[in-house]
Amino acid sequence: MDMLHLDNPSAASEWCVLQREQGRSLGFVATMGALHSGHMSLVRRAAAENDLVAVSVFVNPLQFNDPGDLDSYPRQLEGDCALVAGAGGSMLFTGSLEEFFPGKLAQDGGLEASAMVDPGSGAEGLEGEFRPGHFAGVATIVKRLFEVTQPTRAYFGLKDFQQCLVVRDLAFAQGKPEVVLCPTVREQDGLALSSRNLLLSDEWRAEAPRIQQALRATRALWQQGQREASILRACLVEGLADSALEVEYAAVRDSLNWTRDEPEGSLVQAVGLVAAKAGEVRLIDNLLLHMDGGVDSV
Ligand code: PAJ
Repeated sequence: MDMLHLDNPSAASEWCVLQREQGRSLGFVATMGALHSGHMSLVRRAAAENDLVAVSVFVNPLQFNDPGDLDSYPRQLEGDCALVAGAGGSMLFTGSLEEFFPGKLAQDGGLEASAMVDPGSGAEGLEGEFRPGHFAGVATIVKRLFEVTQPTRAYFGLKDFQQCLVVRDLAFAQGKPEVVLCPTVREQDGLALSSRNLLLSDEWRAEAPRIQQALRATRALWQQGQREASILRACLVEGLADSALEVEYAAVRDSLNWTRDEPEGSLVQAVGLVAAKAGEVRLIDNLLLHMDGGVDSV
């Protein structure tokens, strides 16, 4: 079946509502484009578990706290369409901020403050601290995308760990959709696939796997029985100490009970999280320390 490409949210909404009315289940994958195998793993999973799959491609300005990052974010819509069609997507749609939020733009071209969504407690600390406003921007667009697509299930990658918490809380508060969290797809050397990897020079590309190496060394310490967040975190920091990467945070949290600050006492489950700049390119990654491999639940 050919994939449908729609260039505005209202046409996309009409199509999605019609499909649901006709009794079809709809999987939804939200993206910002420059698609890679990580995104495609979500599309394939959605195609396996639903009758139809809708994919959004929208570089959401509301979630970029750094205008330079927004400008340099890679855009390649034609290639994206071909990839989604090949992975079993049924419909791909795009739109402008104005089309997503008609009549709600402020003078400066941003969104009216009253239209912004509170991202909840998953946004506290780490990414939320280093990227002020980022998760409010994510929660606002994801809520709107859910309204547009009315999906049966929505698929998100654990690569963006706090984003998963924010989206899960949002869906829980609304009672829908079902949120499916999917494992991180990596390069052979451990680097998590990211649209931003396209922006890495050869030198920074060679350095970038250090993040995952440090996370794996920390997981090895967990496997030896270490359960104290502060000691696990020290291992993570140590693993990155002699790297050229500029570490923004290297932290350990309880993966089931999110806290803004480091938890005290012995952990039962844990996640290591890192954000670091490879030159101008900001990379994030995480690893569930209590798991041997990929998982699909937090
Ligand atoms: P984007 O970075 O394009 O990612 C879209 C989805 O793909 C997210 O759920 C993300 O976690 C997932 N993803 C990215 N890299 C992955 C990898 N290596 N393995 C598995 N999944 C991966 O995340 C966003 O866009 C935006 O914040 C969005 C949710 C679209 C809201 O604007």
